[in-house]
Amino acid sequence: MAGRIIDGKQIAQVLRDSIQEEVMFLKDKGITPGLAVVLVGDNQASETYVRMKQKACENVGMHSILIHYPATVSETELLAKLHELNQDTSIHGILVQLPLPDNISEIKVIETIVPEKDVDGFHPINIGRMMTGQDAFLPCTPYGIIKMLEHENIDLEGKHVVVIGRSNIVGKPVGQLLLNKNATVTYCHSRTKDLASVTRSADILVAAVGKAKFITEEYIKPGAVVIDVGMNRDEQDKLCGDVDFEGVRNMTKAITPVPGGVGPMTITMLLFNTVKSAANVLDSSYSL
Ligand code: GUN
Repeated sequence: MAGRIIDGKQIAQVLRDSIQEEVMFLKDKGITPGLAVVLVGDNQASETYVRMKQKACENVGMHSILIHYPATVSETELLAKLHELNQDTSIHGILVQLPLPDNISEIKVIETIVPEKDVDGFHPINIGRMMTGQDAFLPCTPYGIIKMLEHENIDLEGKHVVVIGRSNIVGKPVGQLLLNKNATVTYCHSRTKDLASVTRSADILVAAVGKAKFITEEYIKPGAVVIDVGMNRDEQDKLCGDVDFEGVRNMTKAITPVPGGVGPMTITMLLFNTVKSAANVLDSSYSL
C-alpha cells in the first residue's frame, strides 16, 4: 500500500494561520515583528530563498528589510551592520543568508548576532541551549521536521531514527531534537560503511544527503516514515529530493514529497522564531 503523503504545505499553512494571529495580537500591543535579512553576493538560489522568506513575512503581516551587499563587501562592514541591527528595536530577528564568500568568516558573523535575535538558531548559545533541552531558538529546518512529525502524530519515543547528513544546519540539530524527544538516533554520513544496512533498521529515516533520488528501495525498512530534506534538480531540471519518491513510496508508512514537504516548514519556523522573539519583548511564554 502506498505510504501517506505528509503535506508540508498544508501543515505550514495551519501554523502560519496561528502565527498571523499572534502578529495581529502583537501589533495591537504596538509591536510589529520585524526580520532583517542580509544577503551577500548574487547566488541565484540564495536570492530565491531570501525572496521567499520576505514574501512569507509580508503574508503574515510582519515587517522585513533586505540588506543586499555585493560579494566584495568587507567582513568589517558586514559585522558593523550586524551590530547596528542588534541595537535596532524595530528588528526582532536577524538572518544572514548562507553561504558567504570565502573572505568572510561564517562563525564570526553568526557569533556577532545577539542570541536573542538569532532566529536561524545558529548561535553557539542557542545550540548549547538546544542540546541541554532549554528554551532556545531552534534551527528552522530541524524544528519544521519536528512540527511535521508532531502534526502527523508520529510517535518518536524509543523509535530508531537514522539521520543521513551531519551539517550544522540540518543533520546534527535534527538528530539532537529527535534525541530530546526520546528517539534512539543514529547519524550516517559520507564515510559511513554499508549505509543501506544502517538505514534499513530505521523506523524514521531523515535524508539530508544532497544527492538527487539517492535513497532507493534498498535503503528503506518496510513501514518506515521517510523525511526528505533534499532540494535537488533531476535530469530534466525538475526540483526533486534526496529520495526516489515514486520508487520507495509503496514501502513506507508515510513520506514527505519534494516540493511541498519540508521546504514550506522551514520558512514557517523562521516566521515562528521571529514572532517568538518579538513576543519576548512583552514576555517569554510564546508557543504554538
Ligand atoms: N542557507 C541554507 N539554509 C539556510 C538557513 O536556514 N539559514 C540561512 N541563514 N542560510 C541558509
